[in-house]
Amino acid sequence: MKKAHTTRTLRSFKRVKKNDSLQMLTCYDFQTASMLDETDLDLILVGDSLGNVVLGYETTVEVTLGDMITFGSAVKRGAKNKFVVVDLPFGTYTHFQQGLEAAVELFQKTKAEAVKLEGCHPHHLELIKRLVENGIPVMGHIGLTPQSVHQMGGYYTHGKDNESAKALMEGALKLQEAGVFSLVLECVEKELAKKITDALEIPTIGIGSGYETDGQVLVINDLLKMGKHQPPKFCTPVSDMFELKKNLISTYLEETRNKSKLEEANDHHH
Ligand code: KIV
Repeated sequence: MKKAHTTRTLRSFKRVKKNDSLQMLTCYDFQTASMLDETDLDLILVGDSLGNVVLGYETTVEVTLGDMITFGSAVKRGAKNKFVVVDLPFGTYTHFQQGLEAAVELFQKTKAEAVKLEGCHPHHLELIKRLVENGIPVMGHIGLTPQSVHQMGGYYTHGKDNESAKALMEGALKLQEAGVFSLVLECVEKELAKKITDALEIPTIGIGSGYETDGQVLVINDLLKMGKHQPPKFCTPVSDMFELKKNLISTYLEETRNKSKLEEANDHHH
């Protein structure tokens, strides 16, 4: 198994391993984390996408700092040998002092190795700089930033026109300057994702942004198809866990409904 990454190995990854994609998956619970801990996965993200896939919310706007602490610490208890990144949720970093306090609490209580936050406005840059100076590694996230879904007017590919492409490139460079150790590019037009990747010294991790970023991230529930609905089109599931689990439970229910057969079925399953 691979040795756990550090912010230093992640930075040098960019120069050394041009053909070795940095692989990140989301994770939200202890048991899945302990399974991922036994794989060669590079990075675990406790994304606020847990609002959608674990808690059943329509958007990530409803996720709280308490939620991120609960799930983030569960994941870290299971994945002791992985570099774990936890999302700062919506509304916890709208001003400087609040953002500092939220990030410190999240970092301390989850024991994660880094936090991630969405955006590249001046107040984000200022916060990132201060966190990094105080020992909290930060992963950036630009392009489609789901916490701003209402403000952006839905989910769509970013950087298609010159103006937004320029803003994204500038944002990426400013985030690097502020000190992020890595940058998520979500639904960024793929030529632009490549350009940003080439322009940066830190690794980029793409989702729905083509394959020329330094790494890729997927929501594990999409990859395994754990939900009822079809995953986004950039994710080809490797399984259909929803159907698989449903069938296993249905078989179990059939086999054990008749009380006289309970003992027999239990023997069979052991
Ligand atoms: O919350 C999340 O899962 C994310 C990834 C999709 C990058 O931010």
